[in-house]
Amino acid sequence: MTESNDTPIQTEEGDERQHRRIKSFVMRAGRMTEGQQKGLDQGTPLFVLPLADAPVDYDQVFGRSAPRSLEIGFGMGHSLLEMAAAAPDQDFIGVEVHRPGVGALLNGVLTQGLTNLRVYDCDAIEVLNRCIATTASIA
Ligand SMILES: C[S@@+](CC[C@H](N)C(=O)[O-])C[C@H]1O[C@@H](n2cnc3c(N)ncnc32)[C@H](O)[C@@H]1O
Repeated sequence: MTESNDTPIQTEEGDERQHRRIKSFVMRAGRMTEGQQKGLDQGTPLFVLPLADAPVDYDQVFGRSAPRSLEIGFGMGHSLLEMAAAAPDQDFIGVEVHRPGVGALLNGVLTQGLTNLRVYDCDAIEVLNRCIATTASIA
């Protein structure tokens, strides 16, 4: 974890200390396959969303208003891909920190020509805190 992820807190004594947030994941090492790398190279500009500093208008992102689901930690993306392909009238957002997994999902999105799926390739805590409005209707 980097210092920039630490949040200052006030202690009972009144001094400010860095609060070390616990992370729910360890970055796994892993070789990237050709398909995963292709997914990252070609899919990132099209389907990976940047971390925002204000709640995101997902109707604008997807260009429509539709039921939406969020999967946190989609791993290699098998179930998310399957769900998105099976429900073209719904939108799906996946969050994953494991780069080969993000590449695998993006490769699948490109291969299957899906348009109803977007990805955050970062810590889900940041996505929840920064991008998703507390009033958002996302399952
Ligand atoms: C047990 S795997 C589940 C994979 C997938 N959902 C499945 O059922 O096959 C958990 C995944 O969550 C990811 N993960 C854990 N904490 C995360 C976080 N805070 N933000 C994004 N991804 C996270 C890990 O990298 C890992 O790939």
